[in-house]
Amino acid sequence: MLLLAFWSLWLLDVATATVTVYGQIPMGITSAATAQTTVAAAYNTTVLNPPAIPDPPPATSFTLTLQSTSAGVTDLSIPVPGTFFGFSVEMSVITQLFGTNSSYIQVPLLNLLANIQERAGAVHVRVGGNTQEYAYYVPTLPEERAISKESADTNNPTQTPAVIYTMDLFYLLANISSHVNVHWYLGKFSATSVPFNDTSDFRLQIVEYGEAILGDHLLGIQVGNEPDLYAAHDHRNSSYSPQNYANEFGEMVDALAADSNVPVKNNLIGPSVSGTWTPEMVWDTGFITEYVDNLFALSVEHYPTDNCFPEYGIGVYHDPQVEFSDFLNHTSGVALCEPYLNSTAIAQTVGKPFLMFETNSASCGGFPGISDSFGGALWALDYGLQMAYSNFSGAMLHVGGQNVYYNPFTAPPTNVSKYYEWTVGAVYYSALIASEVFGSTNTSQILDLHGNDDNIYGPQYAIYEHGALARVALFNFITDPSGASTYTATITVNGGTVPSSVNVKYFLSPSVSTKDNITWAGQTLGTIHEVDGRFQGTLNVTTIACDTGANTCLIPVPAPAFALVFLTSEETIATATFATTVYTAGANTATVEASVLATSNGMSGADWELGSTSNEKSAARARMGTGVARYVFAGAALVVLGLAFGH
Ligand SMILES: *[C@@H]1O[C@H](CO)[C@@H](O)[C@H](O)[C@H]1NC(C)=O
Ligand SMILES: *[C@@H]1O[C@H](CO)[C@@H](O)[C@H](O)[C@H]1NC(C)=O
Ligand SMILES: *[C@@H]1O[C@H](CO)[C@@H](O)[C@H](O)[C@H]1NC(C)=O
Ligand SMILES: *[C@@H]1O[C@H](CO)[C@@H](O)[C@H](O)[C@H]1NC(C)=O
Ligand SMILES: *[C@@H]1O[C@H](CO)[C@@H](O)[C@H](O)[C@H]1NC(C)=O
Ligand SMILES: *[C@@H]1O[C@H](CO)[C@@H](O)[C@H](O)[C@H]1NC(C)=O
Ligand SMILES: *[C@@H]1O[C@H](CO)[C@@H](O)[C@H](O)[C@H]1NC(C)=O
Ligand SMILES: *[C@@H]1O[C@H](CO)[C@@H](O)[C@H](O)[C@H]1NC(C)=O
Ligand SMILES: *[C@@H]1O[C@H](CO)[C@@H](O)[C@H](O)[C@H]1NC(C)=O
Ligand SMILES: *[C@@H]1O[C@H](CO)[C@@H](O)[C@H](O)[C@H]1NC(C)=O
Ligand SMILES: *[C@@H]1O[C@H](CO)[C@@H](O)[C@H](O)[C@H]1NC(C)=O
Ligand SMILES: *[C@@H]1O[C@H](CO)[C@@H](O)[C@H](O)[C@H]1NC(C)=O
Repeated sequence: MLLLAFWSLWLLDVATATVTVYGQIPMGITSAATAQTTVAAAYNTTVLNPPAIPDPPPATSFTLTLQSTSAGVTDLSIPVPGTFFGFSVEMSVITQLFGTNSSYIQVPLLNLLANIQERAGAVHVRVGGNTQEYAYYVPTLPEERAISKESADTNNPTQTPAVIYTMDLFYLLANISSHVNVHWYLGKFSATSVPFNDTSDFRLQIVEYGEAILGDHLLGIQVGNEPDLYAAHDHRNSSYSPQNYANEFGEMVDALAADSNVPVKNNLIGPSVSGTWTPEMVWDTGFITEYVDNLFALSVEHYPTDNCFPEYGIGVYHDPQVEFSDFLNHTSGVALCEPYLNSTAIAQTVGKPFLMFETNSASCGGFPGISDSFGGALWALDYGLQMAYSNFSGAMLHVGGQNVYYNPFTAPPTNVSKYYEWTVGAVYYSALIASEVFGSTNTSQILDLHGNDDNIYGPQYAIYEHGALARVALFNFITDPSGASTYTATITVNGGTVPSSVNVKYFLSPSVSTKDNITWAGQTLGTIHEVDGRFQGTLNVTTIACDTGANTCLIPVPAPAFALVFLTSEETIATATFATTVYTAGANTATVEASVLATSNGMSGADWELGSTSNEKSAARARMGTGVARYVFAGAALVVLGLAFGH
């Protein structure tokens, strides 16, 4: 039996962390005066009304005629890896989500990542976001902390507290990768970064240490985050152009070329434009031909809409109830991908992956009732499959702090963290399911079928693996408890025959509005504050008999639901194998048996010290040495600074 040590930790070092830098604050905000809601956004209980059943309703019976092999199928995507959906983690929330230092790793995180690794073979995580712009290396921090924040009053021209990190950040990431096969993207501002605009010091440690310590687990280095917003965010002057960005990218290339501590020099990622510039504006500078030998991938970032008005008074108010239906049809994903089709084609001509480096349902934290709902999960899954069909090679769902609605996962608020476990947002399931849609062979190709008269409320996809029809993905965005909107897709195979039976996994919830009661193949991760990262309940894979004589399989799809039909007899994945709870390296180790943990609400067993709910450093320190100390994140009392951030 695997005995692992148990840790759960939150950040806090009052001296250096009295503020939290969020990456989800829109431009132009200069005041800290944001109202604290009673419940942090990540736990908001808003439930919207599901959109009305369309009138006229789509047909509830239709046939999908599929080629048995990919030969002759036009418009198939390029091969898509099971790692397609990864996570983009704002640098400022690493301590909360990953752990305080390389000796303390959040176990629910390991489990959540392991679930995906089990299906895809690996997990891709990007560490960066707007806070990477201000990040810099320091030799040490108290308590071997991997990450902290600079005090606000240091010699920083913008008064922006930078994220500061130590070598331990890389050990923390490496240690996570030693448990789960996580591959990392790191972020770097351009060579002459603001506020560190001194070209004599490129601050390349994140690249040097990243390469040295992560080795093969480092995928690439993002150079610049949303450069099309630099002018708006006062990172650069108002004439900052795509050519300026391309030039700065070149300065970075030169700086890395000159750095003997950077062995790998062809792993850069750009331009990560967010929609203010089109990617073409960057391509037209000659960016790709100039830097093709330095590039690992081409990237963009995009959110479909924003929810900036309620908190910041920016833009216009988008009523979540009104917006909901915009997320619950196939037009959304198609329209989001369309502006990038030219670029994904260009990326193919130079053999580079094209990545959606940061996305989620809406900037400024998403929408209450949408981002965290079953409907939001169906949306994200359709958007992901559509990106894959559009020849993206990966997409990172953004993860912020307690103050956003769209997190795939959230660590509990600190003053209650001794009672509660994690919370999983519905879109985590989207990432997990996508890993099963594509699997671990790197050979899956996906086709948008546009069946049932291109019914936007029930899109369907076929997935070919090793050149053979392997799976069919079926959506039903409608909520209709009467059962009248359940549809039956008839699958028939051209150039072959359907198997005698197929396995189907259903993604279900009573309504697109619900946040709980969400199951994937009968299992759930649990509701708010209940998640330790392991699936609960009995796996339920539905076997449906087919009619080989008629060459048909009839697949019912309730309203709402997503169904993944396995046409080949492959092993269906059961539950997470990553053993429960835990891990630590080093001396100060507590080990806890899974069974103990299981009966202790996961976190409150008496055998180990769970630490303080105080945010005072002295209190936290006093508990060190008693076993596992828990550091309190001043979650609810966060001072949200007025930073000029994009999301
Ligand atoms: C959820 O968010 C909405 C919009 O910000 C707010 O009006 C509502 O009070 C929040 N609900 C809870 C329980 O915090
Ligand atoms: C890592 O962090 C924990 C909790 O903050 C602390 O107790 C421990 O001493 C740190 N590890 C090292 C090696 O300092
Ligand atoms: C974790 O990181 C520490 C450095 O802080 C290192 O000594 C230790 O070997 C690592 N453990 C694992 C399992 O990689
Ligand atoms: C760096 O920025 C500061 C503050 O904006 C400015 O005063 C200084 O001249 C800049 N240095 C260089 C080398 O551009
Ligand atoms: C903006 O900055 C660039 C250097 O990045 C400089 O060449 C240009 O003159 C500046 N433009 C203005 C209007 O200040
Ligand atoms: C695709 O992008 C290239 C490079 O920017 C541009 O020259 C071309 O016109 C674009 N094609 C379309 C159809 O947009
Ligand atoms: C579908 O969604 C798009 C945007 O995502 C929206 O513009 C359109 O109105 C929606 N269609 C319907 C019928 O709701
Ligand atoms: C994706 O790439 C393939 C191979 O180049 C191409 O046939 C297909 O049309 C592309 N798909 C889209 C939606 O552009
Ligand atoms: C899939 O691709 C990844 C990244 O190139 C590679 O590490 C992995 O081994 C590949 N898996 C298979 C089954 O080929
Ligand atoms: C969710 O499940 C619980 C218990 O199974 C049930 O009481 C509750 O009514 C369900 N909620 C919805 C919205 O169906
Ligand atoms: C398994 O899932 C199917 C399809 O949703 C459902 O009809 C059946 O009742 C479930 N079986 C169990 C044991 O939950
Ligand atoms: C946690 O902190 C919040 C905000 O300060 C407060 O409203 C809540 O009551 C606290 N919860 C507990 C259990 O102390």
